[in-house]
Amino acid sequence: MHSKTILQELGYNLHEVNPRLHYFKPNTSKTEKTFAEEISYSLTQNSKFIHPKFFYDQTGSRLFEQICHLPEYYLTRTEISILKFLKNELPQFLDKSYRLVELGSGSSTKTKLLLDILHDLQERVEYFPIDISDILKEGSQSLLESYENLHITGVIDTYEGGLKFIKSFDNTPNLVAFLGSSFGNFEYDDSIRFLHDVNSTMKQSDLFLAGIDLVKDKKILEDAYNDSRGVTAQFNLNVLQRINNELDANFDIDKFYHKAEFNEKENRIEMYLRSKEVQSVNIPKANLSIDFVKDELIHTEHSHKYTVSQIENMMDETNFEIKKIWQDPYQNYSMILASKIF
Ligand code: AVJ
Repeated sequence: MHSKTILQELGYNLHEVNPRLHYFKPNTSKTEKTFAEEISYSLTQNSKFIHPKFFYDQTGSRLFEQICHLPEYYLTRTEISILKFLKNELPQFLDKSYRLVELGSGSSTKTKLLLDILHDLQERVEYFPIDISDILKEGSQSLLESYENLHITGVIDTYEGGLKFIKSFDNTPNLVAFLGSSFGNFEYDDSIRFLHDVNSTMKQSDLFLAGIDLVKDKKILEDAYNDSRGVTAQFNLNVLQRINNELDANFDIDKFYHKAEFNEKENRIEMYLRSKEVQSVNIPKANLSIDFVKDELIHTEHSHKYTVSQIENMMDETNFEIKKIWQDPYQNYSMILASKIF
C-alpha cells in the first residue's frame, strides 16, 4: 500500500466521502495564477486570447455536454463506438489486474465502457479520476451504484501533479486513459511535453490509452464546430458571460460573433469571438478596460487534428511503444494504446 509519508511530502490530504469513495486534494496553496490575472494578461496582448480551459464553468460544462450529443459533432459518438469495439480487443493487452486512471473526469458513459471491460476481468476495480475541478460531484455516485466492486479515489490536481501522485502511490498497474481528443487543445510543443510527462510517470506494465481526432474533410470539421443549432456559438460566447459573472465585467454578448474555421496548413480548428463593432469593455476585478475595433478577434481555442503517421511520430519521439491503433470505419477518429519503452 502507499506510504502516508510520501503523500504528505507530496502535499496531499485524504478525504473520505464513504468507504468506496475517497479523494486527495493538495494541501499547499498552489502558485497558480487566478482567472483575473490570466485574463488581464491575455486580453491586453496585441492578439487577444482567452485560454480554452476557461470555457468550463457550470454553464460551459453543460453546453459542452450538449455539443457532445449534436449530430455534427462526430467526435463523441465515434469515440464511444470505438470504446464499445474495445470490449473484445482490450482484454488481450490486460494480462494482470489494472486500475483505471482517467485524465480529466470525462463523461460517465465513456468511463463505464472501460470499467465494464475491467469489471469482466477482475474481482475488484479501482478508478482514479484526475481532474483540476470538483470531479466527485457528478458521476461518482452513479458509478458506485453500477458496480458493487468499484472503489473510486479522486485526485484533484493538474494532469502533471496527478500523474506524479499516481507514480508515488503504489505498484498497481495503471491503465491511463486520456479521452475525448482533449489532446487537440495542446500546441505542438505542449503535446510533446505532455506525452513526455505521461511517459515519465509510467511503470513497466502501465498502459496509456488516448482518443485523438484525425485530419479529415474540411466541411465535416467545420460543421462540427459551427453546428446548425448554434450550441457551439453559445459555448464560445459563454466565456464572456463567465468574465461578466466572475470579474464583474460588462461584455455585451450580443456584440460578438462565434467563428470557427479549419486552418489547413496547421491542421487545426481555430475558434474566435469577433467584435461586431467598435466597443469598450470594463473588467473591474481585473483592473482593466479594453477596446475593440470592428471585426477584432479574441482567439479562444485551437483544436488540433492529426494523421495516424503524425501520432506515430509523436509517440516515437516520447518513448512510447504503440501496442495498437484503432479507428472507426470512416477513419474519423483514433484510439491509441501504448506502453513505455524501458
Ligand atoms: C474538449 C477540446 C476535445 O476541441 O472538440 C468542442 C472542445 N470546442 N466544440 C474539441 C470543443 C468546441 C473539444 N475538446
